[in-house]
Amino acid sequence: MRKKVIAGNWKMNKLLGEAVEFVEATKNIVASTEKVESVVCAPFPYLPTLVEKTKGTDLKIAAQTMHFEENGAFTGEVSPSMLADIGVTYVVLGHSERRELFAETDETVNKKAHAAFAHKLIPIVCVGETLEQREANETMNIVENQVKAAIAGLSEEQVKATIIAYEPIWAIGTGKTATSEQANEVCTHIRKVVADTVSAAAGDAVRIQYGGSVKPANVEELLGQSDIDGALVGGASLEADSFLQLVEAGA
Ligand code: G3P
Repeated sequence: MRKKVIAGNWKMNKLLGEAVEFVEATKNIVASTEKVESVVCAPFPYLPTLVEKTKGTDLKIAAQTMHFEENGAFTGEVSPSMLADIGVTYVVLGHSERRELFAETDETVNKKAHAAFAHKLIPIVCVGETLEQREANETMNIVENQVKAAIAGLSEEQVKATIIAYEPIWAIGTGKTATSEQANEVCTHIRKVVADTVSAAAGDAVRIQYGGSVKPANVEELLGQSDIDGALVGGASLEADSFLQLVEAGA
């Protein structure tokens, strides 16, 4: 039985006071749920404070990206060792906004996945197609290639621990959710790709989230699908009440 993962991706939102208020309002409530992992992906400047505030609770703190190198002349970047050092436990890799706006590629996502595991960070690897690609019937191919590239060279145990987030780009921040059947169809394919390229056990263990306009009103139906093990949520994760409803749906 795969444990569900609800991750709120705040993107570039909130000031420090608001971030602290959010975790104070949610950290003890999510601790009472055992069937679901709850993660908040916060902007870099808030990570040390949020890690400190959530110590000993089940609310986990993630970074929204990182570099793959340990250190060096990479102005503005943050390394995996820095994240591990302050107690961050998850990191989002290859979000479509990073791929589109910040030149993230399948190759850098793969390097980052290796770097994440080297520092005991759990990667949440994002994949997904554009509207043009969906309309051209390329969804399965695009997603398959992204998944294979991201997990290349990882050990079976590492693949089992990886979280893959299927986020169709056309559904992000648009209010257009993929139907639960559309979402599940792709997640089932991702699981098969992992099973075929790594092992049946890895395919069975890897957790696959859906992301793209998830909200309290549609989360239950999405989580009820056979191959959807959680959600990566943007807009609807910004308010504590709404985030708690999403977590509750996974429990
Ligand atoms: O990473 C989550 C995200 O891209 C989906 O955003 O606002 O459509 O839930 P949103």
